[in-house]
Amino acid sequence: MTPARKILTVFGTRPEAIKMFPLIHALDRDDRFASRTCVSGQHRGMLDQVLEIAGILPHYDLDLMRPDQTLDALTANLLTGIGRVLDQEQPDWVVVQGDTATAMAGALAAYYRKIPVAHVEAGLRSGNIHHPWPEEVNRKIIGTIAALHFAPTETAAAALRRENVAAETVHVTGNTVIDALQWITARIEAEPRLARDLAPLEARFAGKRIIGVTSHRRENFGGGMEGIAEAIRRLAARDDVALIFPVHLNPNVRKVMNDRLAGLSNVALIEPLDYPHFARLLDISTLMLTDSGGVQEEAPSLGKPVLVMRETTERPEGIDAGTARLVGTDADTIVAETDRLLDDPEAYAAMAQAHNPFGDGKSANKICELLA
Ligand code: UD1
Ligand code: UDP
Repeated sequence: MTPARKILTVFGTRPEAIKMFPLIHALDRDDRFASRTCVSGQHRGMLDQVLEIAGILPHYDLDLMRPDQTLDALTANLLTGIGRVLDQEQPDWVVVQGDTATAMAGALAAYYRKIPVAHVEAGLRSGNIHHPWPEEVNRKIIGTIAALHFAPTETAAAALRRENVAAETVHVTGNTVIDALQWITARIEAEPRLARDLAPLEARFAGKRIIGVTSHRRENFGGGMEGIAEAIRRLAARDDVALIFPVHLNPNVRKVMNDRLAGLSNVALIEPLDYPHFARLLDISTLMLTDSGGVQEEAPSLGKPVLVMRETTERPEGIDAGTARLVGTDADTIVAETDRLLDDPEAYAAMAQAHNPFGDGKSANKICELLA
């Protein structure tokens, strides 16, 4: 019998954990693999929320998060920390996801040891190295190193081929975020108590249309965040809407939002939601205002229009499908586009289609077959 192939998944932030857990579940079920997990702890609270619901107990936890960490200190610690784990485990493959500092350092540490790297969610490109920052460069570095590229869509695969990545190493698998969303939705159906904690807010805002908000991008710190906060303040003047905003734990986000939005009666600034409760928020929202990558991918599955508060997106598929729209971070534009969706039923109906260009929920199994 061929020995099981040792796969080390390396991840560390909330979105990586959400998009990696379906693959870890699939690897754990499959005897062709010996699955090992290393979390960097780049995020602490927000990572642990996902590990708990997904039932993942990592083999290694580097616990690297520091308050308001700098990119250079974080990256240096990631590289040496992950390197030590690789020396100890000597996996056959390292798998990283997306575009974070953890994913980039994981790929680089593997490359320094000549361990092949597989990249989940490969090929996303905005074409601008400052938007999203530093993620666009992280993705390019991982793309240069990876021996296997799991592109979520044909558009992403084509971007890699344009960069002369060998076509036979690029596979369109869909995005594992759809697997994750389907898994969590089924869990909530089986166990509704997993998503009940929003009930008091739902009662408080009964009769109003809910707008779900998230925001955290580094390139939006400063003026961008101010614009987003101002838009929320103005939208809150409408008495037919309420905004529910689970605020990212990054202090640069929390300070602006708390300073500008605390005390508004129809804005709920709440702690980051665990994944079942965030799925519930998506479900009860009329639309989402967000600068998140993952939320752009999830919301179309539930037929929720997404207004993307960024200047560029590396996820053009949602825009092309008509379910998302780029609105930037200027308060006037955000308010005008939101008002349009709230007041013009035709404009709303055109965007509120349950159609997802990002995957079919079977990505993790496809990736397993390719790794085998
Ligand atoms: C990181 C990723 C970004 C991803 C985002 C998802 C990088 C460079 N950035 O950005 O690509 O879109 O995660 O959320 O990899 N913090 C906590 N607890 C947590 C998480 C964060 O307190 O659970 C605070 C800490 O003070 C930390 C700070 O947030 O230092 C920033 O975290 P960091 O991972 O460096 O950057 P993000 O902005 O979260
Ligand atoms: N999410 C969550 N709780 C929240 C906000 C977001 O579970 O309070 C989930 C969301 O469903 C998505 C992911 O976190 O899967 C997105 O993470 P984030 O926006 O932090 O990062 P990005 O996707 O922009 O890299």
